[in-house]
Amino acid sequence: MAGVAFRGVSKSFGAVTAVDDVSFDIHDGEIVCLLGPSGCGKTTTLRLIAGLEGPTAGSIHIGDRDVTMISPKGRDIGMVFQDYALYPHMTISDNISYPLKVRGVSKEERASRAAEVAASLQIGNLLERRPGQISGGQQQRTSVARAVVHKPQVFLFDEPLSNLDAKLRLEARGFIKHLQKRLGVTSIYVTHDQAEAMALADRIAVMDGGRIVQMAPPLEVYHRPANTFVANFLGSPPMNLLPVRLERRTGVTRFVADAFTITAEGWHERLQGRVDDGESVILGVRPEHLALGEADDPWSFPGELYATEPLGPETLITISVGDALTTLRIFGDDPPVVDGRVHARIQNTNLRLFREGGERIELG
Ligand SMILES: Nc1ncnc2c1ncn2[C@@H]1O[C@H](COP(=O)(O)OP(=O)(O)OP(=O)(O)O)[C@@H](O)[C@H]1O
Ligand SMILES: [Mg+2]
Repeated sequence: MAGVAFRGVSKSFGAVTAVDDVSFDIHDGEIVCLLGPSGCGKTTTLRLIAGLEGPTAGSIHIGDRDVTMISPKGRDIGMVFQDYALYPHMTISDNISYPLKVRGVSKEERASRAAEVAASLQIGNLLERRPGQISGGQQQRTSVARAVVHKPQVFLFDEPLSNLDAKLRLEARGFIKHLQKRLGVTSIYVTHDQAEAMALADRIAVMDGGRIVQMAPPLEVYHRPANTFVANFLGSPPMNLLPVRLERRTGVTRFVADAFTITAEGWHERLQGRVDDGESVILGVRPEHLALGEADDPWSFPGELYATEPLGPETLITISVGDALTTLRIFGDDPPVVDGRVHARIQNTNLRLFREGGERIELG
């Protein structure tokens, strides 16, 4: 068993810097999700760990070995590629059991272990077919099965469930989490689905432009995002971000926008020494931390109803505030009846503040 570490790793392709001076320690047995938009360097990070790319700078460590110069064969990694990379001429059974064959496992045991993993991923009835004879989602699960049929030092998953429908995706996600915890294999899992990252990860590493902007347990990333990029990337719908100007001259703090003024009762002292009178900041509040409120509540602000979306256990209410949209998440089976002018009240214990440049302000 082994952790994985990057020390100042960069990777450039000509003028493009895909991975930009990244350092991290992924602990033995941990599952870390790399989360970020298309092109931010997730696949390149996995390929560097697998040895399919060499870094332009820095060093890569698996366990107590520096593997920077070691070939992929010498790294003992199980990998699910974004494009599956199945062997077209082999049956599904042979594809899945290939890592066992390379390790000299007997034919009977290979077949039985392939069948067991395939059954868990609901492709047990396809074992005699070839990749060209099964669907994209089935190929994807074959690729997952091949990665987990043996117990390598490290699992690397590159968007392994992106091609599955919602129900299968949830089932396969549960299977991967169960298996990862049971085997205790250090895993790095790439996704741009924030819910998948929240559900699977011991820690989430959020990437932007080749850099890791925050690496922390899921709930910390969710509740204490390092900046507005992270705040906006996690949660569905994401955190509401409301630009305001601070007024602090009168011994009371007010958040002033074109469309509203909030009197921040109890906040004047908390903000002392952290923000200036007249400074522009961004209020960050998650949809579940907004409630329907009254006009005279100092922590409420008005908007016009834009859409009501009943989802079953909760209802999303979106209002337009000035020229931006803000969403409230109201829990409960009965969708509230609202129309026209709506007041949203901020549960201010869960309010976050960000600088104009995006960085979160640590509050007292
Ligand atoms: N072999 C290559 N040659 C040139 N540029 C590359 C190469 N591989 C990746 N890049 C560039 O490096 C950057 C990061 O690519 P990467 O594939 O790591 O992104 P990603 O986060 O996996 O994106 P996606 O979510 O779309 O899969 C991109 O700008 C990409 O165009
Ligand atoms: Mg990718």
